[in-house]
Amino acid sequence: MVASPHGVALAQAPEIGGASVPAHVAIIMDGNGRWAASRGLPRVAGHRAGAQAVRRTIEAAIRGGVGWLTLYAFSSENWRRPVGEVLDLTGLMRHYLRHEVDELTREGVRLHVIGDRTRFEPDLQAELAEAERRTAHNTRLNLIMALSYGARHEIVEAARRAARAARDGTLDPETLDEAAFGQLLSTSGIPDPDLILRTSGEQRLSNFLLWQAAYAELMFLDVLWPDFSGEHFAGALAEFSRRERRYGARPG
Ligand code: IPE
Ligand code: IPE
Ligand code: MG
Repeated sequence: MVASPHGVALAQAPEIGGASVPAHVAIIMDGNGRWAASRGLPRVAGHRAGAQAVRRTIEAAIRGGVGWLTLYAFSSENWRRPVGEVLDLTGLMRHYLRHEVDELTREGVRLHVIGDRTRFEPDLQAELAEAERRTAHNTRLNLIMALSYGARHEIVEAARRAARAARDGTLDPETLDEAAFGQLLSTSGIPDPDLILRTSGEQRLSNFLLWQAAYAELMFLDVLWPDFSGEHFAGALAEFSRRERRYGARPG
């Protein structure tokens, strides 16, 4: 057997037909820069306002009965931005961790981070680990923050783990199936997203959960992330309940 990064198997067989509440909603939080520009403000003001939208979204997910919420906050490609903006973003992450972890615990939120956290400064890595540790007992909502996350990197890492295990004789390549490969990803133990939302009007995935998105319902909203509200979230859940999911099977 190949060791999985996080243990706990969970993935359930998909249900065909109209789904009620998505178990897992994943959001590409886009449009902070445009929000700031439209107000004549620096981009960092958009990122700050975006952090407020994160708070509202967590509350809306809890109200909506969603069990898993993944937020794409920083992609592996976002390191290409000017160093000043990267510093603003990592500074905001520090601020968020220092000021929100108590609130997350009050609300019953368990935080888990995916992405290449080794690229962050050691103090931020330590704060991330501490926030995960302090919220580990919470059960109301699983909040997954994708930070320095890139799906292609994640998939290559998983392939490398499998190759190493085969070389070391602990994995028979013939037994490597989709479920076993999924356990080598950073999302091992996390159900695939049922619904992926992107704000800002852009219609692309930008290297987000490419493996896990195989049968996700996609929604692209014409709202900039800092303006995203509980009503937008509730509206997306309502639209999701009207979608028919088929997984390649015959329509019912
Ligand atoms: C999303 O907003 C936040 C991050 C990607 C870090 P952007 O910063 O991408 O805002 P736009 O797309 O330029 O408006
Ligand atoms: C995607 O947004 C990443 C996050 C929201 C964290 P980007 O703004 O980086 O994506 P592109 O560059 O428009 O594809
Ligand atoms: Mg953007």
